[in-house]
Amino acid sequence: MESEQTVLITGASTGIGLAMARALTQTKYRVYLTARQESLTRFDVHAIGESENVRIRPLDVTNAAEREAIVAEADRDWGGVDILINNAGVSYRAVVEHVDEHERLAQMDVNFRSPMELIRLVLPGMRAKRAGRIITVSSVGGMMAMPTMAAYSASKFALEGAHEALWYEVRPWGIRVSLVQPGFVRSDGFQKVRYTPKSGRSENELAEPYHEHYVNMTPFIAKVMKSSRATPESIARVVLKTMRRTRPPLRVPATFDAFGFSLLRRILPRNTYHWLLYKMLPRVDTWGPSTSRRSLPPSSDGER
Ligand SMILES: NC(=O)c1ccc[n+]([C@@H]2O[C@H](COP(=O)([O-])OP(=O)(O)OC[C@H]3O[C@@H](n4cnc5c(N)ncnc54)[C@H](OP(=O)(O)O)[C@@H]3O)[C@@H](O)[C@H]2O)c1
Repeated sequence: MESEQTVLITGASTGIGLAMARALTQTKYRVYLTARQESLTRFDVHAIGESENVRIRPLDVTNAAEREAIVAEADRDWGGVDILINNAGVSYRAVVEHVDEHERLAQMDVNFRSPMELIRLVLPGMRAKRAGRIITVSSVGGMMAMPTMAAYSASKFALEGAHEALWYEVRPWGIRVSLVQPGFVRSDGFQKVRYTPKSGRSENELAEPYHEHYVNMTPFIAKVMKSSRATPESIARVVLKTMRRTRPPLRVPATFDAFGFSLLRRILPRNTYHWLLYKMLPRVDTWGPSTSRRSLPPSSDGER
């Protein structure tokens, strides 16, 4: 019964998480809506408040003490977390050469390491009840990688691998594991993308070797997101539906393009698939070497 189940969702203050927060508060579930301390005021802005079944708590997913506190509170007051929704995520835009170690770790920390730690905390309670749901918002970036999104894709591929293993591991206790995979979503998510100092400089400076990668990929991604039919609300509906399915699948493509890409990846020979995608990259024939040529001084015989 919904009213006897406790849901905990991370990163519920904006975007897909906020849409899920709105949807969850319309259900009978007991809900922990969580967000980073500095973002909690956004719930007021959107007229989402606490009630008998809704608790709003600070949770920076990278903070071990906050993770432990909220799971302990749910155990003490509401019989533990029955459904964990890992939604919080960040995204760096940078080619591999432009991501330093600390940026790579920050990306992995929010998107991979922290949800895995939360999962570790809720599993003992779920095993004891021989029931539970882990739903993690992955991405089309977890099934395919795109240039300038290496660190993001790595974090989502890592999630996908770990959840696939988890699916087998906890099935004997009746715990269901699902990865909801949105593709491009019509939201302002692309404005929140993080640049590293090197990728930011490269996007702005014409002479940078990867300049064309960024100036073509950035508007391309923005355009596809803006024209997408998927919205945070439609993704929230997919998550809710997944929560309620008796036998939810491990992977749930949540947008039309995610479904298309997962199909293409299954049916096309891998080399053909990569070649096709390469050819579809915006103005890929102008990337790299032409930029390098531009930045070189003319040689003595007048040739570049
Ligand atoms: N939008 C898309 O096109 C798309 C596509 C595929 C997958 N996804 C995935 O969907 C999920 C939600 O993304 P979104 O599009 O809704 O992006 P968003 O609007 O940027 O929301 C991300 C949420 O994560 C939170 N967050 C970031 N770092 C956190 C931390 N350390 N602790 C707790 N919360 C943190 C943010 O909170 P603050 O506001 O406090 O930073 C925000 O509420 C992510 O996992 C993302 O990778 C999105």
